[in-house]
Amino acid sequence: MTKVSKLFEESEIAARVEQLAGEIARQISGDLVVVGLLKGSFVFLADLVRALDRAGMTPGIEFMRVASYGLGKESSGNVELIGDILDDIAGHQVLLVDDIVDTGRSLLFARNLLLDKGATRLWTCTLLDKPSRREVDCAADFVGFPIEDVFVVGYGIDYAETYRHLPYIGVVE
Ligand code: IMP
Ligand code: MG
Repeated sequence: MTKVSKLFEESEIAARVEQLAGEIARQISGDLVVVGLLKGSFVFLADLVRALDRAGMTPGIEFMRVASYGLGKESSGNVELIGDILDDIAGHQVLLVDDIVDTGRSLLFARNLLLDKGATRLWTCTLLDKPSRREVDCAADFVGFPIEDVFVVGYGIDYAETYRHLPYIGVVE
């Protein structure tokens, strides 16, 4: 059996999401569409948009689905778009949200795609960041927690499609 040890408790995550929303509200004014990368960002995004409401913002919400990981722990290195946003984001300011930035390929790919579609300004936000793993030049504007090179699960994040439902974030050993 795989063992999962806790890295961030629910309460720590909630407190950090609230702070992040404050940072975002201070830096971004005017219209905003939050675009989440599925599936990993769905729990984070759900908490983040409600925290943004408390911070006085009224964001639109869209999702895109990209894939790079397959079922293992290592990225394939190729990022594919497997589900596009439905609404036209041309002329809008966009906050692109992901669960983890690892090599940086997914975020860079999605960012370029949204800029090609005509986003006027684009910020990136990730709950977790593994800077030591970066392979492309892509730094997120808003980061929840920088972490070491460990494989994490929970709070939307999976290992081979399990553990997404965990309310905390843990490390798979
Ligand atoms: P990147 O394109 O290499 O930056 O990979 C980003 C994606 O890989 C994230 O959005 C996650 O879906 C997945 N990923 C990266 N690290 C982990 C991890 O520790 N656990 C689970 N998924 C991960
Ligand atoms: Mg992901």
